[in-house]
Amino acid sequence: MVRFPFKTIILAIVALSAAPAIAQEKVLNLYSSRHYQTDEALYAGFTKATGIKVNRIEAGEDALIERIRNEGERSPGDVLVTVDAGRLWRAEQLGLFQPVRSAVLDQRIPANLREPGGHWYGFSTRARLIAYSKLKVKAGEIQNYEDLADPKWKGRVCMRSSTNIYNLSLLGAMIDHLGEQKAEQWAQGVRANLAVDPKGGDTDQLKNVAAGQCDVTITNQYYYARLLRSQKPDERQVGERLGIVFPNQKSWGTHVNISGAGVMKHSPNREAAIKYLEYLASDEAQRYFADGNNEWPAVAGVKVDNPVLGAFPDFKRDALNVALLGRNQPSSQKIYDRVAWK
Ligand SMILES: [Fe+2]
Repeated sequence: MVRFPFKTIILAIVALSAAPAIAQEKVLNLYSSRHYQTDEALYAGFTKATGIKVNRIEAGEDALIERIRNEGERSPGDVLVTVDAGRLWRAEQLGLFQPVRSAVLDQRIPANLREPGGHWYGFSTRARLIAYSKLKVKAGEIQNYEDLADPKWKGRVCMRSSTNIYNLSLLGAMIDHLGEQKAEQWAQGVRANLAVDPKGGDTDQLKNVAAGQCDVTITNQYYYARLLRSQKPDERQVGERLGIVFPNQKSWGTHVNISGAGVMKHSPNREAAIKYLEYLASDEAQRYFADGNNEWPAVAGVKVDNPVLGAFPDFKRDALNVALLGRNQPSSQKIYDRVAWK
């Protein structure tokens, strides 16, 4: 018989009775501005793989960032998920992220799709495409973002507002490739070609083109995919009236942006947060994450079974590091303001 000193037994009893209070359930507090059907599978997959429960707080992008700022050091948030490198960069500028290093993330996420300091990582990609009216525009008639500034398109272009993050990031890429002066000339030219003042989201621009209000616009591919996959016949009809161009195939490639995430500055569950980012880079999670919004997985070789994306040709993507889109954002905003894009 093994004999324990009395003191050891007492300590063991104290430890046992205290156990339920000490061994708290492992949790991860996820702040997300993305919400899709496949998210449920994503969270369930993470909990199954790690035993960590996911609490989520969902809100619109800007509301979420505001909330985190207000919570400050007391924020329970571990991971922030949001869309567009320009928005992730803004969150980084506000000090909402902490840098993390992970061999898994370094190996799985292409270097140009993550912030070099490890503050945030891209987990799916989206492309900014030109959409045109099949009735009014011939295939091949427009091939580059630069073409949208050609006087040929005067009164024929629809665009959303210049405060929109997608347009800020696109101009950020153009600044990098063309230089500020040419980027400004482009913005000036597109502004002069507008059929109507900028208003509404990407889907509104697509509907305007389909309705004949204008002939060309730009859109992220998932808005186009949503129309074609819609349950509503009238939305499918909008999609079917549109032609799609992957711009700049003969130069710097089509502008690509990301949906991404980073570990939050005051994360109380830092280890779980890193595990969650690593889980997002797994084949299984990549499929859920990308497919939820008709996007492409960030990790090479992961395939999503999506009828619209599957029908697209292979295309040349801009190889720019997405962090530059944020870095150029102040210049983009100034240019849009100077040309009075609205
Ligand atoms: Fe969007």
